[in-house]
Order: sequence, then C-alpha cells, then structure tokens
Amino acid sequence: MSAAQGEKKRPKESVYINWAKTAQSAARYNLANSGMRNYRLADLPVSLSDIELTGASFYGYPPLQDALARKSGTTPDRVVAANGTSMANHLAMATLIEQGDEVLVEQPAYEPLLSAARYLGAQVRRFARRSSDGFRLDAGEVERAVTPRTKLVVVTNLHNPSNSLADDDTLREIGDVARKVGARVLVDEVYLDSAFEAAPRSSARLGDQFVTTSSLTKAYGLSGLRCGWIVAEPELAQRMWRLNDLFGVMQPHASERLSVVALAHLDVIARSARDLLRTNRALFNEFLAARDDVEAPPSEHGTVSFPRLLAGSPDALCQLLAEKYETSLVPGRFFEEPQHFRVGLALEPELFREGLSRLGAALDELKEGK
Ligand SMILES: Cc1ncc(COP(=O)(O)O)c(C=O)c1O
Repeated sequence: MSAAQGEKKRPKESVYINWAKTAQSAARYNLANSGMRNYRLADLPVSLSDIELTGASFYGYPPLQDALARKSGTTPDRVVAANGTSMANHLAMATLIEQGDEVLVEQPAYEPLLSAARYLGAQVRRFARRSSDGFRLDAGEVERAVTPRTKLVVVTNLHNPSNSLADDDTLREIGDVARKVGARVLVDEVYLDSAFEAAPRSSARLGDQFVTTSSLTKAYGLSGLRCGWIVAEPELAQRMWRLNDLFGVMQPHASERLSVVALAHLDVIARSARDLLRTNRALFNEFLAARDDVEAPPSEHGTVSFPRLLAGSPDALCQLLAEKYETSLVPGRFFEEPQHFRVGLALEPELFREGLSRLGAALDELKEGK
C-alpha cells in the first residue's frame, strides 16, 4: 500500500460521537447517555470570587494539579491535565505512538479510542473480550495478540460498553506482557469511579508501564468542566505537556478554578450519584428479571449495562424507540456487537422508570410483530 493510500484510510472523524451529539441526545428518555445526569453549577459551593478568567496555568494550574494528584494517589509531576478523557486519550496516544506502530485495542471498544489510534497512523490489532465470558478482560487474549512490534495496549476499566470490572491481578498480568515487549498499557478509567466502593484504585499505581486517563465526566455529571487528566511517569508526563503545546496549549482557567472547587466537594457529588444509581439499578434489575427476551448480568456497579437481544434486531428496536417512544439506546453496532444494545442507568429516576417502561413496550411490540 502506498503512503497516500494509507493516509486515506485514516479516520478524520468519530462516527459514534457525531451520533451521540445528534441522534442520541434528541430523545426525551435518553437511555443512551452513559454519564450521570448533569450536576448543576448552582449546587457547587462556589462564588464569583472563586473564579478568574486568566491565571498562572502554564503546565497545569498548581492547585488543580495538587487536587488531581491527591485524587489519583500520586504526585503532581505525574499528572497532565487535558480537555476531558477524550483529549487525555488523544494526547497520551499521540505521545506514545509513532506512525506504523502496532497498537492492541480491546474488542468491543469505545470507537473514538480506535479511531484516534488509526488517525495517528497506528497499525491496530485487536484482542477479544467475549460476550460469552461477560466481556471479561483476559490477559491470555492480550498475550496471544501481542508481538515484538506492539507499542501500546489499550483497555477501558470499567469496560465501555459492558461495564465489566477488571481486577488488579489481571491488569498486572497485562502490564507484564506489555513490559516484556517494551510496550505501555493505556487504561481509560473514565467509568472507574462509578463503581464507588467496589472500584479498585487507579492502575497508575501498578507500575510505570501504565498510563491512565480519566475525568470528572461520567461518575460525577461534570462533563461541562472538561476536567480530564492523564497519569504517567514523570518523563512521559513532561513529553505530553510539551506535545500539548501543539494542541490546546492551556486549559480554560475559569474551568480549572471550578474544577478545584468540584474536587474539594467530590464526596458530596459522589453521594448523590451513588444514591441515584442505587435507585435506578434496582429498577433495572427488576426489569431484567421480568424479561425473557434480553440477557445481561444483574447490574452491580457503573452507569451502563449491555444486554443481548435474544431474538430480533437491536437496530430495529432502537429505531422503533426513537420514532414512537421518544427513547434512545445505543445500538450495539457502535461497539462491534450488533446483537447487543447499551442502556445508561444514570438518568433522573422518574425519567429512567418511564424510559424502561417504554423499552419494555417496544420490545413487546417487536415480539408481537405489531
Ligand atoms: C471510554 C470512554 N472514554 C472517554 C470518554 C469521553 O469522556 P470525556 O467526556 O471525559 O471526554 C467516554 C465517553 O463516552 C468513554 O466512554
């Protein structure tokens, strides 16, 4: 393949994000969203004097660097601030990947992770997380897929879309596999905090071959702050800061100031998220138990579930829900698992209850071929 042909194949967009920004968010009962309902500025203990438009934030705003380091159980020299986990992933990959490098990405995957690696010119190989095995992260699958050319292994924990939680031993094994060939492991932990008490601490502490990314988006409903970060060993973190000088250069300072307030208040925000999820999880598990046409493990943590539709087409289900029931789900095809669909559990409980009832009605309607 010529360089020009290779160039052409690089994605210059994310099909999934485009869909999420348009079709998904149009529905009244939005069961497609994977993040907590939006936390309101009015509920943050902030006054105008806490905010400033411009400040001393060149390679990070020091109070925010300190707060993120405390939260991640690390030191500020290992933390790189970024515009959400999205930019954290892009910046981490752009620093770690040279054109033509081999990158292993879990399958099913969150599409922007794949597209970003391909956009950067990586040769992407895949390793399976199997539906029949609850999409468990399996170090053996990584070991079988890795080659001496592998530079990066990419996983999510919790897994998007399935919500499967990987334990430290599995991640450590993957770290060992990667280290043997001189590769790093990128762990996108944007959902990890939504496991609350069940969440292991960040894989960043498992060794310098790990690079982790996260943000305040999913577990806390603070997407609008775009407070994301990377944790990496200090020399790599420095390279990321320097590369960021070609991208966003600095974070918006007002948002940095608000993020410091939000981080100081995170236990209160987490409590409200946990309570809401507890309510919705019970509703969802009741729904699952009552249906014989969808299959998923009972939800124990996290903000999403990824059921399998036992007969019929999830695309048809999603279309019917959108057209007749004002309800959205994410069709599994966006995650390379077309027989599944993803349900978000973090809507306001009244809306969630109604959304589930509409999902049930649409499933019945499809079954009866009405
Ligand atoms: C695995 C994963 N990483 C990153 C993101 C984006 O997070 P952020 O809003 O912090 O950019 C998402 C959003 O759906 C996601 O599912």
